[in-house]
Amino acid sequence: MTHRSATSRAARAVPSVSAPSPRGVLQRLIRKNRATTLGRYFRGLAGASLAAGLALSAGCADSHFPTNPGEDGFLPPLCDAMGRVQVVHEIDPAVTNYDYLAAWSYGFFVGEGFLTDEVGTRCETATDRPACEAALDESSMVPGNHLVTSDGDAVTRYGTPAEISTFLGDVNTAQEAVLVAWHAGYNVSCTDISAGAVRELEDGWEVVGTQMTADCDPVETTTYLLHVSPSAEITVLHSEVTSSTPGVCVGRRPVGLADAGGADGKTKVAAFFAEIAHLEESAVTAFQVLAHELHAHGAPLELVRAAREAAEDEVRHTVTMTRIARRFGAEPAPVVVAPQPVRSLYEIALDNATEGCVRETFGALIGTHQAAAAGDDEVSQALTVIADDETRHAALSWEIAEWIDTRLTDEERAGVRRARSRAVIELRAEMQCTPDADLVRVAGVPTAEAAVALVDRLAEDLWSDERAA
Ligand SMILES: [Fe+2]
Ligand SMILES: [Fe+2]
Repeated sequence: MTHRSATSRAARAVPSVSAPSPRGVLQRLIRKNRATTLGRYFRGLAGASLAAGLALSAGCADSHFPTNPGEDGFLPPLCDAMGRVQVVHEIDPAVTNYDYLAAWSYGFFVGEGFLTDEVGTRCETATDRPACEAALDESSMVPGNHLVTSDGDAVTRYGTPAEISTFLGDVNTAQEAVLVAWHAGYNVSCTDISAGAVRELEDGWEVVGTQMTADCDPVETTTYLLHVSPSAEITVLHSEVTSSTPGVCVGRRPVGLADAGGADGKTKVAAFFAEIAHLEESAVTAFQVLAHELHAHGAPLELVRAAREAAEDEVRHTVTMTRIARRFGAEPAPVVVAPQPVRSLYEIALDNATEGCVRETFGALIGTHQAAAAGDDEVSQALTVIADDETRHAALSWEIAEWIDTRLTDEERAGVRRARSRAVIELRAEMQCTPDADLVRVAGVPTAEAAVALVDRLAEDLWSDERAA
């Protein structure tokens, strides 16, 4: 179920990069001739922007956080089949006079609320149903995580911590503790017990959750061990940075990619190219796995072949970027990827939405920008070739998305759209970090302002139309 209003688009940030390609037209063109059109579009945007950034993450939980379900009484949160935490299920609130209850998150940048969970039927007992529906829709557009109920014609929003506390009364179920953490902005993972767990204590609950801590240089994800009291007060018991992004959005990362480690005293430029070389090598595995999985799911031969060719491209990129990294004095970290079973089409679609349609697509644009802006000749020449390949890979992501799309349920398709929107929000947050001046000069990395404008522009031209589709 989606609830959008005319205000959702108006509320979105206005892009400041001017370049050709009105929204909608671009998507139709891409469908006809993907890589060529995308390449032209990226060169237009990079040229208009010139006046780059990339992302890596990997986990490394420590003993403060559980590593297995059941460990020390920690259990995963209740989640639905789509991987959404069910914050309004298995709760025992003090307020019970409602026939519909929903939990909304709101992405300020995409101007759209995300329905996290719901119970009951919208406006089931309303006498003026359209007015009730409109009031619910309006409430869904309010920034911040919140609950909203309908009871007859009355629509009530619970947005502040005090209002959530009033709604819940005593926090007396595990899922209520998860709800309190979710409302405070913590992401409680459905799939990784070390990033999403809850256990009961004598004096309340402990919840494990994460937040993106955009400290810049690098952007970080922090895992928290929270204590949630019966009166819904949150205390941070322990926190630890569990992944970091060096400000690099290059290509597709495979599931199971291990952390490459820190920069170890290298210059920013050297560390940057070592990171890129590492990501290029990891993309080899990502495409090999993808080709294998597409074949296993009976995908058209041209998609399987294109994924194999992309893996070969990534081998060349690895060689090139390793050479450049070494020239600047850094050795790329070895790529370690834990083996994974063949994923379902839905899992592939979710990954493709994030890694392909958002990150690899944006990485191709950034590569195009860098090729045009890099002050170092070898870097500029290398990136000119690589950006062309990456643009083809980005186009392949959209083809794969289109092929899988027809094989998904409506609910799964909505899940894919949500994953893509979230990836855009995260990407935009990462791009707000100011890159080192040497990276801008030598590697042609866009300034934070330019990178955010490019994200906004792609959101407007590519990602938003898909959302509205
Ligand atoms: Fe690529
Ligand atoms: Fe690449």
